[in-house]
Amino acid sequence: MLPVLQRCAGIAWAALGLCCFGAAQMDAQVHLLSRPIPAADAVERGQKKFVATCGFCHGANAKGGEGGPDLVRSVLVLDDENGDRIGPVILKGRPDKGMPAFSFSPAEISDIAAFLRVRTQDAINRFGYKTLDLVTGDAKAGQAFFKGDGKCSTCHSPSGDLAGVGAKYDPEKLQSKFLYPATGSARQPSQVVVTPANGAAVSGNLEFQDDFTIAIRDAEGYYHSWPRQDVKLDIRDPYAAHAELLRRYSDADMHNLLAYLVTLK
Ligand code: HEC
Ligand code: HEC
Repeated sequence: MLPVLQRCAGIAWAALGLCCFGAAQMDAQVHLLSRPIPAADAVERGQKKFVATCGFCHGANAKGGEGGPDLVRSVLVLDDENGDRIGPVILKGRPDKGMPAFSFSPAEISDIAAFLRVRTQDAINRFGYKTLDLVTGDAKAGQAFFKGDGKCSTCHSPSGDLAGVGAKYDPEKLQSKFLYPATGSARQPSQVVVTPANGAAVSGNLEFQDDFTIAIRDAEGYYHSWPRQDVKLDIRDPYAAHAELLRRYSDADMHNLLAYLVTLK
């Protein structure tokens, strides 16, 4: 603790709120302030990739999520230059600690590094994180996307199931709720109808599937399983639309939707 206090006492960085970080983070952050801001198109590509691939574990804003640490405060990320530190972690993963490996190209890694750079620079320039900074989109455009291109209205209603979501969650939580609704303990199972070649159809909740086997639990609680190749399958994942949306959102769509959803109070 002492070295941090000493450093902060004398210099202007103290005024920027850097003292809430550890000494190693601070060194890296001071260094970071002198670096250029990455190109906007790289950041946008990096953000899309990050949200879709890494956001589940590290949070859409890289501040930590389901099991993955906050990357905005990571010394490794702060030290990174164009993917030189982040790249090896992505390519090798840390399988023993719960991080899988990804085979990304150098260009993709560089984009992700650009996005993470901006997140860390933001964190400094804004004197720490403010969740309100998330809500920078245009609520009207978000509403239009909700009713139009996003097809959200086919499943949700702002005055029905989503009434009050803006009050129920803070913007941070709300963003991860609409990006990753399938997380958490209340996850609903997929509904499956299995039709064997010469038998009656059986329906139930998906219990297990891989390339060879499908297993369901029927309404009475009985477990059934089949070799996949022997049956016809109709699988309805209630979250499929959300998984598909995650691939489709532009950066602006995400910001606008959030700006709209926070108004549902
Ligand atoms: C399934 C969850 C999961 C996914 C998906 C995931 N990570 Fe991780 N990540 C982790 C965990 C857990 C750790 C911490 C490992 C440890 O303790 O050393 C980690 C660590 C890291 C670190 C090192 C942080 C540090 O300070 O040492 C970086 C960088 C990182 N992840 C980037 C990414 C990127 C970029 C992606 C997407 C391409 C990604 N991760 C996807 C779970 C995940
Ligand atoms: C095909 C149906 C479908 C579509 C289309 C759809 N969703 Fe969802 N959405 C769901 C399901 C299912 C859940 C999970 C509900 C649950 O688990 O309680 C969910 C959850 C959510 C939640 C979390 C609600 C809460 O209270 O936790 C939000 C917010 C949300 N969706 C927003 C959207 C937005 C915005 C769009 C359009 C861009 C959209 N959804 C499109 C089916 C859909």
